[in-house]
Amino acid sequence: MTSRSAVPPIRLGINIDHIATLRNARGGRNPDPLRAAKTVVGAGADNITAHLREDRRHIRDDDIVRLAAARLAPLNMEMAVTPEMLTIALKVRPHATCLVPERREELTTEGGLDVASQIDTLKPFIAELRRAGIHVSLFIDPVIEQIRASREVGADAIELHTGTYCNAVTTGDTATASRELKRHQDAARQAAALGLEVHAGHGLDYDNVGPIAAIPEIVELNIGHYLVGEALFVGLAESVRRMRTIMDEARKDLRHEAKQVSTAGT
Ligand code: PXP
Repeated sequence: MTSRSAVPPIRLGINIDHIATLRNARGGRNPDPLRAAKTVVGAGADNITAHLREDRRHIRDDDIVRLAAARLAPLNMEMAVTPEMLTIALKVRPHATCLVPERREELTTEGGLDVASQIDTLKPFIAELRRAGIHVSLFIDPVIEQIRASREVGADAIELHTGTYCNAVTTGDTATASRELKRHQDAARQAAALGLEVHAGHGLDYDNVGPIAAIPEIVELNIGHYLVGEALFVGLAESVRRMRTIMDEARKDLRHEAKQVSTAGT
């Protein structure tokens, strides 16, 4: 369990898929995901996240190659568990991969990876990535069975799918929102106790990110769609800076709380 007196800093990974969505709407080269990556790193992002989908609906192969080669910040490549993606990852060698479930007809990644039912497939897949020096995280729902399975298959990290929590906050369903938040808090604690690094993402925005950023075991958030939408109104750099500020404030409160607890104990 993470001691509250040692709250680790939290990283912000920006998912730039939807810069590519906009580019692909017209074909051509603009807006360029690499330029977006430079902008978000300049604005305080720690990592760049990009999902190379099987159908290449947004990020394409050459985007991943250029993002990895530019070395602006650690690249987190989201990908499905397929032989094609394994080959690409081993060639491109991103800093990290996040393994996600993928269905062609979905608009976005709808649920977590069912790690528990794919132990035999995932073990060698993850071992190959790790042998190449690539960190592996698994995008899962906050369920203890999936957390234990993630440990068993040898992942370095899990990324908790925050979609249900975020939807509940947005629709004002406070009962579901607090139940989901508790599930994430418990899951983060359980995962950290098993030695897994804990990330979270999906559907995060300015209004719902605070309580998630305040979970002490979570050390990375990956955020995309909302910030790219906000960028239309305030610019990409400003949308990232504001998110960074909100996350840091949530974390600062936690550190403040930790300090008070440790002072009270002396
Ligand atoms: N993390 C993972 C694993 C995802 O699949 C996505 C969506 O592509 C995100 C984070 C970011 O979600 P959003 O675009 O809703 O912020």
